[in-house]
Amino acid sequence: MTQPAPIDLPTKDLFRLDGRTIVISGGLGAVGSTVGKAILESGGDVVFIDLAHQPELWSKIEATAAANGTKAWYHRLDVTQADAFPPVFDTIRDQIRHPLRGLVACTGISGVCDATSYPIHAFRKVLDVNIAGTFLAAQAVGKELHRVNVAGSFVLIASMSGWNSNKGINTAAYNASKSAVHQLGRSLAAEWGHLQNTFTYYPAGQPNREVHPPIRVNTISPGHIETALTKEAQETGLVNDWAKQNMLGRISQVEEYRVAVLFLLGDGSSYMTGADLRIDGGHCAW
Ligand SMILES: NC(=O)c1ccc[n+]([C@@H]2O[C@H](COP(=O)([O-])OP(=O)(O)OC[C@H]3O[C@@H](n4cnc5c(N)ncnc54)[C@H](O)[C@@H]3O)[C@@H](O)[C@H]2O)c1
Repeated sequence: MTQPAPIDLPTKDLFRLDGRTIVISGGLGAVGSTVGKAILESGGDVVFIDLAHQPELWSKIEATAAANGTKAWYHRLDVTQADAFPPVFDTIRDQIRHPLRGLVACTGISGVCDATSYPIHAFRKVLDVNIAGTFLAAQAVGKELHRVNVAGSFVLIASMSGWNSNKGINTAAYNASKSAVHQLGRSLAAEWGHLQNTFTYYPAGQPNREVHPPIRVNTISPGHIETALTKEAQETGLVNDWAKQNMLGRISQVEEYRVAVLFLLGDGSSYMTGADLRIDGGHCAW
C-alpha cells in the first residue's frame, strides 16, 4: 500500500502532529524529554516510556501538555525485556485518544573501556539497551500501527559514533551499537515501506503477508551533546577537545535536535525513509 504525497497541506502544517500519538522510549532522558515537549507543543500526544521516573521533570512535561491542549502519559518499562511490552501496550491502547503514529527511540547507554579489558557482560549490556532495546521498541509500536492499519514515522536516535570512532575515548561497544542502529533503521524502512520490498517466494511456504500503510524509518546521528551522558567529559575537560574537532567550535545543546525530530515525524518528510540525518557541527565531514 502506498501513501499519497501530502501536496495539499499548507506549509505551516508540515511540522504539526495534531491527531497523532507518538511513543518516546528513553523519554525522560535529556533528548527524549526535550523532543517530547516539542511534540506536545506541536499538537501531538506523547507516551513516554523509561526505566527512571523523575517527578520534577514530569510535572514540567504535564504543564507543557496542559498549555498546548495535548496529553502526556508515562509508563515504566525496561526496553530490553520483551515480555514487559505487551502489558504496557495493552494499557496504552486504552489510554490514548489518537492513534499511535510514531516512535522516537532515545534509549541509550555508553561505556568507556579499553577493548583489551572490556568485560563481555558490559559490552553485551550496551548492545542490549542500544540495539536490542531500540528494536523491541520499534517492534512494539510497529505492531500497533499494523494492527490499526495506519501509516507512521519512526526516528531512531543513533550517533555520529556510528559513522566514525569517538576521538579521545575508547567506546567500542557504543560505537558498534550505533552503527547497528543505522542498519536497523535502513532494514525496518525497507521491510515496512512497501510489500514489494519483500520477495514473496522466499522463504518457501510463507503465508501471504498482510498489506499495511507504510511506516517510514529514519535515524538521527547527533554529535556531542551537553547532557548527563557527557558529564564526565565535561568535568575532565574532554569536551574542550571535542569542540575543536568540529567545524563550529562547540558541542551541541539538546534543544538543537527538536526541529529534526519534528521534521522526520511530520508530513514534511513524506518522501524520506531509510536515511540518516547527521547533526554534528560538521564533525564527520572533516
Ligand atoms: N548525549 C550525547 O552526547 C549523545 C550524542 C549522540 C547520541 N546520543 C544518543 O541520544 C540518545 C539519548 O541520549 P541522552 O543524552 O538523552 O541520554 P540520557 O541518559 O539523558 O537518556 C537516556 C534515557 O534512556 C533511559 N534508559 C536507559 N536504559 C533503559 C532501559 N533499559 N529501558 C528503558 N529506558 C532506559 C534512561 O533512564 C534515560 O532516561 C541515546 O541513544 C544516546 O546514545 C547522545
